[in-house]
Amino acid sequence: MRVAMIGTGYVGLVSGACFADFGHDVTCVDKDSGKIAALTRGEVPIYEPGLAELVAANARAGRLAFGTDLPGAVKSADAVFIAVGTPSRRGDGHADLSFVYDAAREIANALNGFTVVITKSTVPVGTGDEVERIIRDAKPKAEFAVVSNPEFLREGAAIRDFKLPDRVVVGTKDARAREVMTELYRPLYLNRSPVMFTDRRTAELIKYAANAFLATKITFINEIADLAEKVGADVQEVARGIGLDNRIGSKFLHAGPGFGGSCFPKDTVALLKTGLDHNAPLRIVEAVVAVNDARKRAMARKVAAALGGELRGKTIAVLGLTFKPNTDDMREAPSIPLITALQDLGAKVRAYDPTGMEQAKPLLPNVAFCKDAYDCAQHASALVIVTEWEQFRALDFARLKKAMERPVLVDLRNIYRPEEVTRHGFVYESVGRSGR
Ligand SMILES: NC(=O)c1ccc[n+]([C@@H]2O[C@H](COP(=O)([O-])OP(=O)(O)OC[C@H]3O[C@@H](n4cnc5c(N)ncnc54)[C@H](O)[C@@H]3O)[C@@H](O)[C@H]2O)c1
Repeated sequence: MRVAMIGTGYVGLVSGACFADFGHDVTCVDKDSGKIAALTRGEVPIYEPGLAELVAANARAGRLAFGTDLPGAVKSADAVFIAVGTPSRRGDGHADLSFVYDAAREIANALNGFTVVITKSTVPVGTGDEVERIIRDAKPKAEFAVVSNPEFLREGAAIRDFKLPDRVVVGTKDARAREVMTELYRPLYLNRSPVMFTDRRTAELIKYAANAFLATKITFINEIADLAEKVGADVQEVARGIGLDNRIGSKFLHAGPGFGGSCFPKDTVALLKTGLDHNAPLRIVEAVVAVNDARKRAMARKVAAALGGELRGKTIAVLGLTFKPNTDDMREAPSIPLITALQDLGAKVRAYDPTGMEQAKPLLPNVAFCKDAYDCAQHASALVIVTEWEQFRALDFARLKKAMERPVLVDLRNIYRPEEVTRHGFVYESVGRSGR
């Protein structure tokens, strides 16, 4: 199959590289010429484990190319994926579909012979209908089908998720499109990954329902953590105790500073807007969004409480800035509102992240960016773990204690056991485990 991937970001680049690795002939297109120039030189502009090697191997094999010429790539393609961004629209939180619709217009003019146009971007219910209308209006004689194929990969484990997915969802009732989609994902049949065919609107809703459900699970355990702190219980044990029930499952039950990232925050809000537009308000998701928003600043108060309530003039060291480990993505990272709140309370903030500092710098003014965890801890009154990078799991406490003004660790990811830390003379605060 010849594939054009429109949008070469976290999703487009991973999907393009993986489809090439499946044996398809892929051209990844982006309107950001700097990104394409870097990729053509063999540089991968994002941090995603294994991606640089996968891109290099498939480019070498001649199955993966990069360019800015959208019409050229579309003209010869059997399948054209739209993998552009769908951020929150300023002001109302609806998904901003302008990139999707612009791409659809550009694609329309270049279509040549039967082509399947696939929305891989996360788009609200009905967007596929609109994409179809745009293409039909621009080129009434075009032979095409518009398919919804939402992406479920997680940054940090994106290649594995793409190649060994829990499921692939394909929304189409068009028989020819179904054949093309089956061919594209054929290697997955060998892995027995379920490919679920459904109608287009259902596929679009599945993506939002999945993200909203996962965000709900996280938020639920976060509220249970707050209660556990008040009643002297251990949320880790609660999570284990409920997660062993197969009907609940153990994933996404890690209490922490609240969800962030490029998907959950914008997708939950966009789903709320869809609900309101269709007079079907989603009260549970409304509560999830509100509880999660409030939580991020509450984490700053937790840091203050660990220091007796006063942060003015104190230095706070923050470890981990990206919204999760193994990515350089800073979009909606919980570290941003947390650090802002620490600064509002009068603290001076030092920070270290293994990959995210370049992206963080423009977002976090007045933060001192450091070269490693120990440099970060210099003269700090508290060290706060915000992102659970592997390298923060075995910190040298003796070295930290020497560097710090006061030995206080606030572990917002519960990566340590309390006694592991307190035996080094540290005051230790975590999430949902107070009183232990
Ligand atoms: N990042 C994730 O983990 C993830 C997971 C699942 C789904 N999604 C969804 O996938 C979509 C893409 O997300 P992302 O994180 O890859 O975004 P991104 O911002 O990293 O990448 C989008 C790319 O599209 C390019 N672009 C925009 N308009 C274009 C056009 N007309 N022609 C060519 N290129 C164009 C941009 O320059 C950018 O490089 C979003 O809808 C997102 O919600 C993301």
